[in-house]
Amino acid sequence: MTHPLKRNQSTNETLCPRKKVTELPVGLVGLGLMGSSITTAFAVSGYKVIAVAPVAQDLAHAPGYLKEQLIHAETLGILEHPVDYYLDRITLTEDYSALQDCSLVLECVIEDRNIKSDIYRKIEAQVSETTIIGTNTSAIPISSLQQYLRIPDRFMGIHWAEPAYATRFLEITCGSKTDLRKAQWVSEWAEDWNKEPTLLQKDIRGFITNRLMYAVYREALNIHEKGEATLKDLDKAARYDMGSWVPVMGIFRRMDYMGIANEGEMVKKLLPLLSAATHRPSIMQPMVDQKLRGIHSGAGMYSYTQEEAAQWKQAFNQFNRDMYFLSDKYSKKTSSEIEEIKSI
Ligand SMILES: NC(=O)c1ccc[n+]([C@@H]2O[C@H](COP(=O)([O-])OP(=O)(O)OC[C@H]3O[C@@H](n4cnc5c(N)ncnc54)[C@H](O)[C@@H]3O)[C@@H](O)[C@H]2O)c1
Repeated sequence: MTHPLKRNQSTNETLCPRKKVTELPVGLVGLGLMGSSITTAFAVSGYKVIAVAPVAQDLAHAPGYLKEQLIHAETLGILEHPVDYYLDRITLTEDYSALQDCSLVLECVIEDRNIKSDIYRKIEAQVSETTIIGTNTSAIPISSLQQYLRIPDRFMGIHWAEPAYATRFLEITCGSKTDLRKAQWVSEWAEDWNKEPTLLQKDIRGFITNRLMYAVYREALNIHEKGEATLKDLDKAARYDMGSWVPVMGIFRRMDYMGIANEGEMVKKLLPLLSAATHRPSIMQPMVDQKLRGIHSGAGMYSYTQEEAAQWKQAFNQFNRDMYFLSDKYSKKTSSEIEEIKSI
């Protein structure tokens, strides 16, 4: 049976034959929430995974996390085999030498550069010179981590979204010393992991997604601060306008759809009116001071009863699942495939 979400394998083999790579295991170091979720993602995509626990406690909780995530993946309908089949293909160990045959090793430990640098030293002592080494860091610049690598050109950011096995997002970021060809090759390869990878060729703060989102946050909060619209209405606009086209068109195909001349005129008129603020909006300061965690603590931009918080979490989970399948349906369609979709 074919994996229900498996894409056509690309025949574009640049650095190393794809088949050879898929036969080799991939490695993970760090088995917290994200590390175990990524381990599950690789296992579900057909890889043997060597998962190294950098601290002994990881070995205690990782089997439970992995089983729970695989059962979740099963309920989403993305498993080809029973849960135990995937568990058998995952090696949990504290021994870094188990990584020696891996084609790729991903570091996924806490955001502490000293700890991460120590991990890179241990990985590089075991793997071959061609092994790709990645970090799942969300915030530390890739170029600054790269200085700890003996062979820095094989190192890059490979940033996943949670749950890693049920989201399409993957952000690949080059540091100043990353070999761009290697990053391009990982980007092609990541389609086999059922991802829609983005490749950021230069290590800019916030990577791509945070920069886009913070531009939107700034303008939305600016409109709210001036009393021109409520938070609820701003959220409605994002959900029912942007939400109706972003997942299928992105930004620039939308411009093409609306007509470049129109969009160009609007850009000219609107840019001078948009916020260029560099400070934190006043509405957020007290919430930051109180360390509010929104849905997770019952208060944030909105307030939540426990029941409402649970409903939002459930809705988001369900939506994530639906989007996982929907994005596959609309990705990379040729005109004849679009005709097929129209007739569904
Ligand atoms: N949680 C998310 O949604 C998310 C999303 C994207 C990226 N990330 C990134 O992924 C990485 C891991 O995040 P997480 O959410 O899995 O964290 P986590 O706290 O669940 O796990 C942290 C990992 O770090 C290891 N660790 C802790 N102290 C250590 C030490 N002294 N020496 C060696 N290892 C140690 C733990 O054993 C564990 O494996 C971070 O870089 C984080 O920024 C997290």
